[in-house]
Amino acid sequence: MTFRALCIDKSQIKIDGEIASEIKSPNSVGCVYQVRQSPMENKMRIIKQMKFEVVGSCQNHCFSCAHDDMISTYKGYQLSLEELSHFVDCTKVSDYFIEVLHIHGIGEPLLWKHFNTGVKVLKESGSIGKIIVYTNGYLMDRIDDTGWTSIDSVVVSLYPGYKNIALLNELKNKYNDKIYINHARTFNAKLLKGYINRIPCFCGCSGPMFVKDKLFRYCGPPVFDAAKLMGISIFDQHNLYLEMRPNYLDDYDEKKIGNMELCNYCWANTNIHSPAYPWGYEPSRMVLRIESWFADTFYRYKIIPRSVWAQINNINVALKSLIMKFTPK
Ligand SMILES: C[S@@+](CC[C@H](N)C(=O)[O-])C[C@H]1O[C@@H](n2cnc3c(N)ncnc32)[C@H](O)[C@@H]1O
Ligand code: SF4
Ligand code: SF4
Repeated sequence: MTFRALCIDKSQIKIDGEIASEIKSPNSVGCVYQVRQSPMENKMRIIKQMKFEVVGSCQNHCFSCAHDDMISTYKGYQLSLEELSHFVDCTKVSDYFIEVLHIHGIGEPLLWKHFNTGVKVLKESGSIGKIIVYTNGYLMDRIDDTGWTSIDSVVVSLYPGYKNIALLNELKNKYNDKIYINHARTFNAKLLKGYINRIPCFCGCSGPMFVKDKLFRYCGPPVFDAAKLMGISIFDQHNLYLEMRPNYLDDYDEKKIGNMELCNYCWANTNIHSPAYPWGYEPSRMVLRIESWFADTFYRYKIIPRSVWAQINNINVALKSLIMKFTPK
């Protein structure tokens, strides 16, 4: 039999809801411990990671935002506490344990009105290991003490022109071990209509992904852009997702990611070699098309080695930043 122990405040270790008197040979995975007596009886399924989408809006309109088509599909969406508890119940009853839950959208997670209660419910469910939140950092003051206790890390995308530095520094002094800064100075251009990305491929933004009442088994948010470019309706693709229900991941095969027809049109298919742009810079479609074509051709036919292309891209970004600086707002 397998026991799972969740160390919530690091002073209490519980096994199957009961405080453990003794744990032999603890196996540490984050703050989770396992005591295995017989492998035959270990029925709990470990899910390495899951993307968890809680809100369909954002204050920013970044050029080339990887989530923007999914945001517009779920415009105004807020994950309700009922939907959250249905997800938790289904996960518990299925005996799944999700090692890392990424709360990274769909848009800006700190716009989720149930953020603090929501992360508490998730953490206390005992079915989640680490909770990582990705944010543009504009609303860091919305995380209260309950929120900070429940989450393990916050990755702040520090876009140029960020105005909340004083608060961020204050929070870093208080919660230094939980805050990571991502200096997001550049964004990769997404695919244009007509571009065919190669398969076989590896997916750079894979599922499983939970949103509202659905579970996308193999894809993250970029699949919404891919479906649009392919000219299909994503909700007609019943092989891609299922309604949230018990045992929702029983036929999920971690090795089966990518390599679908949709990946031909997908930004997350890592065969793409798109040019990088400074965050917020919106080039004309013609410029985008020419640069994407050069980037892909140079990579595909190995005309220019990867390291040289990276330098060319840096020069490209520096030039675009200069243009941005002198362009009247
Ligand atoms: C879509 S955002 C959602 C969370 C939050 N709004 C933010 O900006 O951090 C998730 C992550 O994707 C990154 N991202 C979005 N579009 C991108 C692009 N075109 N190229 C590279 N990274 C991108 C962001 O910088 C961020 O780290
Ligand atoms: S802040 Fe994040 S979600 Fe919002 S537009 Fe920018 S990358 Fe997309
Ligand atoms: S369509 Fe392919 S590349 Fe895109 S998210 Fe899905 S599996 Fe990944």
